[in-house]
Amino acid sequence: MPDIFISNEGPVHRIRMNRPEKKNALTLAMYQAMAAAIEDAGKADGVKCLVIAGAPDVFCAGNDLSDFIAMARSGGLGEQIVRFLHALARCEKPLVAAVSGAAVGIGTTMLLHCDQVIASDSAVLLTPFVSLGLLPEAGSSLIAPRLMGHARAFSLLVMGKPLTAEEAKDAGIINAVVPGAELDAQALSVAREIAALPPESVTAARRLMRGSVEEIVARIDEEVESFRTRLASPEAQKALAAFLNRKR
Ligand code: COA
Repeated sequence: MPDIFISNEGPVHRIRMNRPEKKNALTLAMYQAMAAAIEDAGKADGVKCLVIAGAPDVFCAGNDLSDFIAMARSGGLGEQIVRFLHALARCEKPLVAAVSGAAVGIGTTMLLHCDQVIASDSAVLLTPFVSLGLLPEAGSSLIAPRLMGHARAFSLLVMGKPLTAEEAKDAGIINAVVPGAELDAQALSVAREIAALPPESVTAARRLMRGSVEEIVARIDEEVESFRTRLASPEAQKALAAFLNRKR
């Protein structure tokens, strides 16, 4: 199976991250494939809802950290990453996430763009951006405080405090916590329920509820600029190398 596996369940399209040997850490090719899938779904009349899923033991370990080191050397962030972030923000189709195990970094911040998040009881949301010498991305610096209030967003995004599935539900990021064995079926059921609604009405309601897309895109771009600078910083280089060279 490819690292990103797309499957069609009638009007519901599922994007599954599938790089188990690296805990679904996202490579540039994976960002590219996910961005393309979201953009294509946006143009396809037959697609009424998207599901983003991971593996049973891990949703996503965040950006591939060796890619981050390479990007710091080249001074770029990877146009594929920015394309994915813009695709998420601009997506006009409802997004459902099915989260099991760790959701780290972008694994958590992509959830903030989703309309429904179903998690297994093993899910843990974690964004160690600042301890890696980095900063929050994917528009999370704007969206997370809106969803959960500044203080809780600060604990998550700056202090790197993990949220269990139940805590994330209390914080308003997750809709439902279900047993792991039921996760895929429950997420699909929610997606089908959304897909069965009048699509134009769903799009219009969703557009109003999400507010200005351009504001979110502008924040993503602002975060990207700062992220590039942070990636090249000695703080980030040291922290990234420490993870990759750790002895277990
Ligand atoms: N980038 C690159 N490789 C990663 C990775 C990442 N983000 N996350 C995990 N991996 C790799 C590990 O290096 C390891 O590779 P190896 O077997 O070749 O040594 C493999 O995936 C398995 O990871 P491991 O840490 O042994 O799994 P675990 O089950 O003990 O822990 C995580 C899972 C996700 C909690 C842990 O891997 C982790 O914290 N990853 C880093 C997350 C992170 O900081 N992401 C960036 C956020 S901005």
